[in-house]
Amino acid sequence: MPFPFNLPLTSLTYMLLYLATFVTHHLAMHFVVAGCLTIVGASIWYRRDREALLTNPVIRVLRDWMPFGLSAAITFGVAPLLFVQILEPVNFYTANLLLGWRWMVVIPALIAAFYLLYVLKSAWFERLAWWQRALVAGVNAGLFVFIGFCWTANHLVSSQPDAWPDTFASGVLPLAMVQVVSRSLVWLSIAFVSMASVVTAQLAYLREGTATDEDLPAVGWLRWLALAGLGLFAVASLTAIGVSMPGFAAVNNGSGYLWLGLGVLLWGGQIVLWHSEAMATGRGWIGARLGLLAGMLFCGSVVRELIRVASIDFAALIPQHEEAGNVQGFSLFLVTAVIVIGLMSLSVWWVRQSYQAEPVDIES
Ligand code: HEM
Repeated sequence: MPFPFNLPLTSLTYMLLYLATFVTHHLAMHFVVAGCLTIVGASIWYRRDREALLTNPVIRVLRDWMPFGLSAAITFGVAPLLFVQILEPVNFYTANLLLGWRWMVVIPALIAAFYLLYVLKSAWFERLAWWQRALVAGVNAGLFVFIGFCWTANHLVSSQPDAWPDTFASGVLPLAMVQVVSRSLVWLSIAFVSMASVVTAQLAYLREGTATDEDLPAVGWLRWLALAGLGLFAVASLTAIGVSMPGFAAVNNGSGYLWLGLGVLLWGGQIVLWHSEAMATGRGWIGARLGLLAGMLFCGSVVRELIRVASIDFAALIPQHEEAGNVQGFSLFLVTAVIVIGLMSLSVWWVRQSYQAEPVDIES
């Protein structure tokens, strides 16, 4: 049986939930990170034409939807956070502790990045000079890249248990530059593909202030970002596998060939669906492109897990998964579900009330 289907049922369930929610976390996070970087590029590209920048359909959608995208990334991040703590508790917590303040700094960076997204959306941002716009979006993107780096550092420390005593004694993290750079390029490159896939879907299907029928045909240029992202992703992924600790040995088996092979097929399918302007701007291919992307991210996540499982004593953790599987809390779940659903209903009611009292002009 290929990994992860060779795991006992409880571990398999946690692993599949981890993988699926890790993919949704990444899709939402990619939208925001590539979105900020695209605004940096567009601010420079349209430095002499502010109107062209602000009316560009892609920039409009990004500025409008990135705060929501970050909320989604954080919410979808909580789910794999829960599952990784069940799957590899000792590794995850030890890495948190060894990183110390370098781990805690993620929270203020995330809060600052969240508020900056609202600055990008504001009328104040529109009045800035082109280099100030590029600077604000660049700082925002930089914060996201830094947060991604912290997750990478945590992941790399967590999968090197042999290095923990030295790290504790010296305070120096066991991170090789080539590992960090290649892993960062993996997610940064594919982020542009996710962003392009999501934005074209938004332009095709969302109305009421998000898009008009004229918008999608005008954004054929997004395919260049997507194609470049897919190319760099392939190179960075192979490098990241090669320089990981068990390296190609971790994927040099039936499971590795299966997930890598499937990933390559889905990668190739996306190149086909992005290669022509007509396909990039046609409604017919949007669902297929998103499906291939999600499938490829899933395959990549399984390969990432194959490498982690080969670096740590995963078999020793399986009894703990069984124990976690026996923990019950259904009545507590019901109580919190009622409270949360109640609070959400109250928020919706509250917003509807204020909207009815003072209708919002979506265009302004
Ligand atoms: C926008 C800010 C964020 C960025 C840019 C980001 C980026 C990343 C990246 C790049 C990874 C993969 C690291 C690697 O394999 O090298 C990752 C993993 C992960 N992220 Fe995020 N993340 C963000 C916010 C969050 C938040 C707020 C949460 C939780 C609430 C979260 C939960 C996770 C989890 C659970 C993993 C998997 C960790 C593991 O398996 O070792 N992320 N994130």
